[in-house]
Amino acid sequence: MNHLQLGTTGPRVSALGLGCMGMSGMYGPADRSESIATIHAALDAGINLLDTGDFYGSGHNEALIGEALKGTKRDAAVISVKFGALRDPAGGWVGYDARPAAVKNFLTYSMQRLGVDYIDIYRPARLDPNVPIEETVGAIAEMVKAGYVRHVGLSEVGAETIRRAAAVHPIADLQIEYSLISRGIEGDILATCRELGIGVTAYGVLSRGLISGHWQAKQDLAGNDFRAHSPRFQGENAERNLQLVEALRRIAEAKGVSVAQIAIAWVAAQGADIVPLVGARRRDRLTEALGALDVVLTPDDLSAIEYAVPKGAAAGDRYAAAQMAHLDSEVRHG
Ligand SMILES: NC(=O)c1ccc[n+]([C@@H]2O[C@H](COP(=O)([O-])OP(=O)(O)OC[C@H]3O[C@@H](n4cnc5c(N)ncnc54)[C@H](OP(=O)(O)O)[C@@H]3O)[C@@H](O)[C@H]2O)c1
Repeated sequence: MNHLQLGTTGPRVSALGLGCMGMSGMYGPADRSESIATIHAALDAGINLLDTGDFYGSGHNEALIGEALKGTKRDAAVISVKFGALRDPAGGWVGYDARPAAVKNFLTYSMQRLGVDYIDIYRPARLDPNVPIEETVGAIAEMVKAGYVRHVGLSEVGAETIRRAAAVHPIADLQIEYSLISRGIEGDILATCRELGIGVTAYGVLSRGLISGHWQAKQDLAGNDFRAHSPRFQGENAERNLQLVEALRRIAEAKGVSVAQIAIAWVAAQGADIVPLVGARRRDRLTEALGALDVVLTPDDLSAIEYAVPKGAAAGDRYAAAQMAHLDSEVRHG
C-alpha cells in the first residue's frame, strides 16, 4: 500500500481510504459483523484512513469503528470525523450546529464512542450558515492546541470558505464528492486546494454505487436509504446514468478490470494529492476496490473514459434540492 501526506500539513495516509457511512444505515441495512470484518480487512491491507461522521447512524458508526479498533494500536488508524449535522430520534435531519461550544461538545462524545483520546482529522460536515467559518475552525484549532485533535479538515465548502478557514489554521484536507459524474471540484475548488497545500479526500467515487457496475435500475430501496431520494437514482435519470456505466464497462472489459476499478482509478489519476474514499461495507467490495490501486490508466485510456463519460454527462443533481442548498461548494459567490 502506498502512503502519502495529506496536503502539506496533514497526516500520512494510505492511497485509498475507507468510508464507513454505509455501515450505519445510510444505504439501507448493513451487517454488523461483516462491517467490522471489512474494517479489519482494510487495516490488514494497509488502509489506515477511516472516515466517519458522528451523525452516521446517530453515533452508531463511531461506536462500530471503536469496537473494530479495540485492541489495535491507536496509530494504526487515521480517524477522520465529521460533525455538525443534527438528527432527531426518528433519524430525521434537523439542521446544523458548528458554534464553538457545539464543536467541543460533539468532539467529547465522539472520542467517547470511538474509545480514543484524540481524533486525527476533525471537520464540520457542512458550513453552518449561522456561524462564520473562522469561529468553527478557531474552536477546532483550540482543540488541536489542547491535544484532542491532530488536524483540521473541511467538507463540501467552496473556494472562498476554504481561504477563510486556512487563514485561521492550516487545513489538512477538503472532503468533497468527486467522481466521473460529479466534477464540480474541477473549477476553482481544486485549484484553491492546490494553491494552499490542502489535500483532497474524494467521496462518492462510485457515486454511491450507481457507477460501480453492480447497480441495476428499479431496485427496492428502504425509505431511509439515501439512494431512494437521490435524483440520480430515480427513474429515467437512473436509466440514462446506467447507459454511461455500460460505456465504461466496455473500457473496463478491454483492460480486464471491473467498472468500479476504472471509476476509482480515474479519481486517483486526477492527482497525487487526491485520496479516494471508498464506501465498501463488505469484504468482497473492499477487495475489488483495492484492485483499483493496480490499475494503470494510460493517456489513451483517460481519453476513452472522458469520451464515454464526458464532464456534465450525469442525469440529475448529486443531492436532492433541499440538501443542495446546504452545499457551500455549489454556491456561486459573487
Ligand atoms: N463529506 C461528505 O459530505 C460525505 C458525504 C457522503 C459520504 N462521505 C464519506 O465518504 C465515504 C464514501 O462515500 P460513499 O459510501 O457514498 O461512496 P461510494 O464508494 O461511491 O459508494 C459506496 C457504495 O457503492 C457500492 N459498491 C459497489 N461496489 C463497490 C466497491 N467495489 N467498493 C465499494 N463500494 C462499492 C456499495 O453499495 P452496496 O453495498 O449497496 O453494494 C457501497 O455502499 C462514506 O462512507 C463517508 O465516510 C462524505
